[in-house]
Amino acid sequence: MIFLNLGYQPLANRYKSLNSKKKKEIKYKLLVNFDPRTKLVSIKRKFSSKIMFNDSYPYRSSMSKTMVNNFKELALKIKRKFIYKKVLEIGCNDGAFLKHFNDIALGVEPCGNIAKLAEKKKIKVISDYWTKKLANKIKSEYGLFDIIYSANTLTHIKNLNDVFKSINLVLNKNGVLIIEDPSLLECIKKNTYDQFYNEHIYVFSLISLSKILKKFNLRIFKLENLDVHGGSNRYYICKNNSKIRTHQSIKNGLKKELKFSLDKQTTYKKFGLRVKKSKRLLLDIFEKLRLKKNKVIGYGASAKAVTILNYCGITNKHIEYFLDTTPEKQNKILPGTNILIKKYTSKSLSNINYAFLGAWNFKNEIFKKENKYLKKGCKFITHAPMPKIVGK
Ligand code: TYD
Repeated sequence: MIFLNLGYQPLANRYKSLNSKKKKEIKYKLLVNFDPRTKLVSIKRKFSSKIMFNDSYPYRSSMSKTMVNNFKELALKIKRKFIYKKVLEIGCNDGAFLKHFNDIALGVEPCGNIAKLAEKKKIKVISDYWTKKLANKIKSEYGLFDIIYSANTLTHIKNLNDVFKSINLVLNKNGVLIIEDPSLLECIKKNTYDQFYNEHIYVFSLISLSKILKKFNLRIFKLENLDVHGGSNRYYICKNNSKIRTHQSIKNGLKKELKFSLDKQTTYKKFGLRVKKSKRLLLDIFEKLRLKKNKVIGYGASAKAVTILNYCGITNKHIEYFLDTTPEKQNKILPGTNILIKKYTSKSLSNINYAFLGAWNFKNEIFKKENKYLKKGCKFITHAPMPKIVGK
């Protein structure tokens, strides 16, 4: 059942250079589906990894302290709790997690430019897509792995059957697979419809992921709820016949999702209506500020912001430019819009009254960093859970 139509959208991480400003972008209709049988939420138009992930990919995990700390804490936890000889990460990005395991780590990262950043941290990286062919190659060269980690990656791959079959090929008998992704429950609760874009092919719930994993003789034995990326789930998974016992957090997590009716169509229909309201309210805020001739900029040119801006029809009439710390995004145009992204400096917010929080999921980090300007009266516009202007 399609419950959300986010209109025509460009590919989210295709930031346009100034000289290709006029070049036609790929656009697709962003429809979001709930399957009442499998309870899986996915986007209708699914692009292949080859189209989305290439050697000029702009996303770097290490761009936020929150994520760097998140990976560090998990690494420490793994060191404390598990016995392992080798660690594999699928979609290791710039090595923010694997750097804690250096010589026993192997990373898989298809985007060559990003893989190089991980290699600079002395991590062994195979720059390729996660496929059965690659898993077989890894198995014959490196053997089996005790820990396999994947954050914000597996949901980006169209063929989930292939993903889990490949993982099974390289996961040790008593090994642990840890995956981390935005939580569907948090997305629905917070009205964060911007979790949907071409790379986020699936948004998992504990309910839907448990059903998928059963087919592969895999079992989720522990669940952790994280604050990162607007509310994520960290799933600890083992082979069905592993000695590891299933933790109480699974029962509790399922109960929470069922209480919220995450398995029912009506939940999604209501969410769809809230998203339409959210669009009207956000545009209203921008229009009012524009009519009063306020200068408004954007803060954090995230992929999520691409969904919001394109869905709501926000242009450079509303947002003069965006700020971002990522070198790969600076001096480029935000996809589907005509808004330029400028380099962030610690003084960027002096003389700014309003900034749209594109990186709303890092609000705490950003508010801490910009405390001085917030105290001076700078305000942020946020769309979640409902559009409003926030400040000190
Ligand atoms: P992010 O939310 O990580 O992901 P996605 O692109 O998947 O939606 O993107 C946040 C963006 O915000 C990223 O481009 C880095 C940028 N950013 C800043 O410019 N300043 C900051 O202080 C933080 C935390 C992020």
